[in-house]
Amino acid sequence: MADLTELNRKHFDNIAHNYDTGFEKAISMICEETKSHRLWISSKWTDTAEGKEKEIKLLEYACGPGHISRTLEPFVTKCLGLDVSENMVATYNQRVQEAGISSEKMSAKVGDLLAETVSEGLQGPKYYDFDIIIIGMALHHFPDPQLAMKRFTDRIQKGGVLWIVEMLEDHGSEQEHKRISPESAQTVHKHGFGIEEIKALFSGAGFADTAVKILDKPFEMTLHGHELSKTIIFARGSKL
Ligand SMILES: C[S@@+](CC[C@H](N)C(=O)[O-])C[C@H]1O[C@@H](n2cnc3c(N)ncnc32)[C@H](O)[C@@H]1O
Repeated sequence: MADLTELNRKHFDNIAHNYDTGFEKAISMICEETKSHRLWISSKWTDTAEGKEKEIKLLEYACGPGHISRTLEPFVTKCLGLDVSENMVATYNQRVQEAGISSEKMSAKVGDLLAETVSEGLQGPKYYDFDIIIIGMALHHFPDPQLAMKRFTDRIQKGGVLWIVEMLEDHGSEQEHKRISPESAQTVHKHGFGIEEIKALFSGAGFADTAVKILDKPFEMTLHGHELSKTIIFARGSKL
């Protein structure tokens, strides 16, 4: 595992039990925006003409507790979560059970698609041909975002979608993060992305029809007693 990945694994293993604390407002904002942007993200869902009666496979990579996936679960036929943190994966699976969703339809497992050599356990049809891959607030944790997006291209079927939820880059954030939470600041290599930067990452990974939206509503959180507010971007692209 690359150093940054290992730092992330340890950090998120430690905080998985109270990941939501301080982020309640932000999480509910993202879930609401997910619902209202669903048809902007993709036209293929179980309730649309394109998706009706078809298999629709969703992967949330770096899934954490899976709140974005649970928001979209009613509109797909299979949801898979992958994360390097075992405790995050356990939280995801526990929340699936609590929500009364079958583990056959929705489950997470530990996995690293960004490793130099991806494990045998992540080969096979279950791990390919996704209709949608979601990366929620995690691209800035990856050692090499462009390589990551290329790896996701390989896993998406033709016509499928990659959807990224990220912070809009802002130059004060890095210092603020290091001051307020030096430990979690070590788990990121960036504090968001610019619009042109994210578009270039999509085209560099072979996606077309890329669209980026800046959300009106702020992502408000409390980190170690400090109130913070971030601007969020939604970016989506289709695999040709
Ligand atoms: C900020 S959390 C986001 C979780 C979730 N997607 C959400 O929207 O709440 C970042 C997640 O990325 C995971 N992560 C970090 N680096 C990773 C990597 N290289 N591969 C897979 N997961 C990773 C962490 O374990 C953590 O669960």
